[in-house]
Amino acid sequence: METNVIKGKYGSSTILVDERIEEVTKYLPSKPLYIITDKNVERHHSKRFPNAPVYAIHPGEASKQLGYIENIYRWLLEKNADRNSFILGIGGGVVCDIAGFVASTYMRGVEFGFVSTSLLSQVDASVGGKNGVDLDGYKNIIGTFNQPQFVLCDTYLLQTLPKEELINGFAEMVKHALISDIKLFEQLEIDYNDLLHLNHPVISRHVAESIKVKATIVNADEREGGIRKLLNLGHTWGHAVETLTGIAHGKAVSVGIDFACRLSLYKGLINNREYLRVINLLQLFGLPTCLKVNPAKVFDYLVKDKKRNNNNIDFILLQGIGKPKIEALAIEEIQNFIQK
Ligand SMILES: NC(=O)c1ccc[n+]([C@@H]2O[C@H](COP(=O)([O-])OP(=O)(O)OC[C@H]3O[C@@H](n4cnc5c(N)ncnc54)[C@H](O)[C@@H]3O)[C@@H](O)[C@H]2O)c1
Repeated sequence: METNVIKGKYGSSTILVDERIEEVTKYLPSKPLYIITDKNVERHHSKRFPNAPVYAIHPGEASKQLGYIENIYRWLLEKNADRNSFILGIGGGVVCDIAGFVASTYMRGVEFGFVSTSLLSQVDASVGGKNGVDLDGYKNIIGTFNQPQFVLCDTYLLQTLPKEELINGFAEMVKHALISDIKLFEQLEIDYNDLLHLNHPVISRHVAESIKVKATIVNADEREGGIRKLLNLGHTWGHAVETLTGIAHGKAVSVGIDFACRLSLYKGLINNREYLRVINLLQLFGLPTCLKVNPAKVFDYLVKDKKRNNNNIDFILLQGIGKPKIEALAIEEIQNFIQK
């Protein structure tokens, strides 16, 4: 088992890779327990859940809305959950975001932990203490920074994850390699086939490596004042594509990574060989790199996006594989690039 610790301003989080879900009781405090999951995860894995009341949300992003989440607060009230309760989210990124947000706000905050069940949530969504929900088409615009007490990543749970969902997680794994270490990127090039087949111990080794990249960055900058922005590689363009097309988060990030790499190439920061190497790895994982989406529409969305900073939008570019750079690009410069 591999363990990482995030020391947050409001508590620390222990992330355990390859601890089995059946062992979660070892990490639970002796407090009344309430489980939040989704209906797919419940169907496949509820036999392995600890004994506690369960709220199963409808799977998918549409549940990450305040209106929907009110039902969970009501359920907690009906069950007489109080400030001494503990909330356990068992699911992918949507469940972790919702469980973390509900736990951080119910009665001004109760303790919580996650059993992370999708690849994307194991390497990304459940790690780092961001708990967000969507509003009026803006993703994760309402939320908190609050660390779960623990995150348990049981890679054997990934066996029931649909292939389409699995590949979403590889986009974040590639991103973590791109912003940290060319050796990790090379290892992904070597291991991609084992990873696609969830072969052990290759999958757990890469999940642990990927988490280490994110945990190191979050430990240095929990509130995204500086270096945490590096984790947004592919996300500026990707979020806009995700909102406009409705494609899954990981696939949108892959399209966003392609955009960031083309922008890096255009600015002479990387060469064509490096660009093609990144695109090749994304494609080996079955991820899309270009979509039939009108760039002008994505650009319009970006300009309206709340993350814009006066006339600039922060982009994460690459100066080489493993060498990221935060750059505030003027809106006109992005427009010129799109129109070229
Ligand atoms: N808070 C953060 O820092 C952060 C970071 C990245 C992404 N996110 C959020 O994470 C979400 C995406 O996460 P996701 O890709 O895990 O989506 P998801 O939670 O919707 O899970 C994807 C699908 O897989 C199913 N599933 C999950 N685990 C399963 C398992 N073991 N077996 C069978 N089915 C399973 C789910 O029911 C769902 O249908 C987005 O809302 C995104 O905004 C948050």
